[in-house]
Amino acid sequence: MKVTVVSRSGKEIIKGGIELNDAATVAELQEAIYSRTKKYYPSRQRLTLPVQPGTSTKPVVLNPKANLSEYCEKNSTNLTVVFKDLGPQVSYRTLFFFEYLGPLVIYPIFYYFPVYKYFGYGTERTIHPVQTYALYYWCFHYAKRILETFFVHRFSHATSPLSNVFRNCAYYWTFGAYIAYYVNHPLYTPVSDLQMKIGFAFGLICQLCNFYCHIILRNLRSPSGNGGYQIPRGFLFNIVTCANYTTEIYQWLGFNIATQTAAGYVFLVVAALIMTNWALAKHRRLKKLFDGKDGRPKYPRRWVILPPFL
Ligand SMILES: NC(=O)c1ccc[n+]([C@@H]2O[C@H](COP(=O)([O-])OP(=O)(O)OC[C@H]3O[C@@H](n4cnc5c(N)ncnc54)[C@H](OP(=O)(O)O)[C@@H]3O)[C@@H](O)[C@H]2O)c1
Repeated sequence: MKVTVVSRSGKEIIKGGIELNDAATVAELQEAIYSRTKKYYPSRQRLTLPVQPGTSTKPVVLNPKANLSEYCEKNSTNLTVVFKDLGPQVSYRTLFFFEYLGPLVIYPIFYYFPVYKYFGYGTERTIHPVQTYALYYWCFHYAKRILETFFVHRFSHATSPLSNVFRNCAYYWTFGAYIAYYVNHPLYTPVSDLQMKIGFAFGLICQLCNFYCHIILRNLRSPSGNGGYQIPRGFLFNIVTCANYTTEIYQWLGFNIATQTAAGYVFLVVAALIMTNWALAKHRRLKKLFDGKDGRPKYPRRWVILPPFL
């Protein structure tokens, strides 16, 4: 089989094309492209079938596990594929590790070190119990997320563009510093003891529920991450599609009830908007995948993220 690899503008990427045996897979083609270019390792490559000029259909993305012959015209041993460089990639674990490490390190700096003198305040500071509990709560949350990244989640995508590390770190690190600054501030006014207890207790319960949701999602896949997307069932997933996001939002609500800062509530709103957007897409994907046709199960009626509103 001869494979011609072209760029989206039609320029040949590998001069003279690549000869492979007829039973070769897309993954083998990717390896062959890598060995010829020495730059584009497989996870950097996006291979699609050419689209007829003038049509608005989305190009078919080649599945690395599929045989190349599946994409050939009948009885043909020639194939043209369109190559796109996705840019440098990092593993999902690396991405998540760095985005969560920032808040885990930055927040305690505001609690333990005399940083407020650089903002024009004296070094004397009374630490209220709520500020100490908030530190524990915060660190527990981000340590949990890092541990879940390495020991719980089974990701289906191997890598993410390196640029996402900078974007996601900017989001998490900036919000971490913003909230830490106000919760640990020398002029911080604590809420009542009862409100603090209710907030942290509610938040902790939601964090535990969030952990359990992640275990349910984990069990939908094999250890290698195979298994695609399944209908999550059991516990809160019987009510809401993205129960892990619901519990994530509510645990931040618990933190904010206990600490009560505008910065914390701004983060809550931004995080809820982001997760709502993702939840709508996940809900749509599951409804499309499980449409009840040709023997496929039908996706049950469920809320998307925040019952009884959405
Ligand atoms: N505070 C914030 O701003 C914020 C924002 C986002 C997330 N979070 C927290 O971080 C956690 C992880 O976020 P995420 O966006 O990665 O969550 P997610 O997309 O729901 O995924 C969690 C894991 O479960 C897998 N999964 C999800 N639905 C599945 C299904 N139907 N069948 C099989 N596997 C499925 C995912 O696989 P794939 O690899 O295929 O995706 C991923 O490995 C959230 O639950 C939340 O607690 C916080």
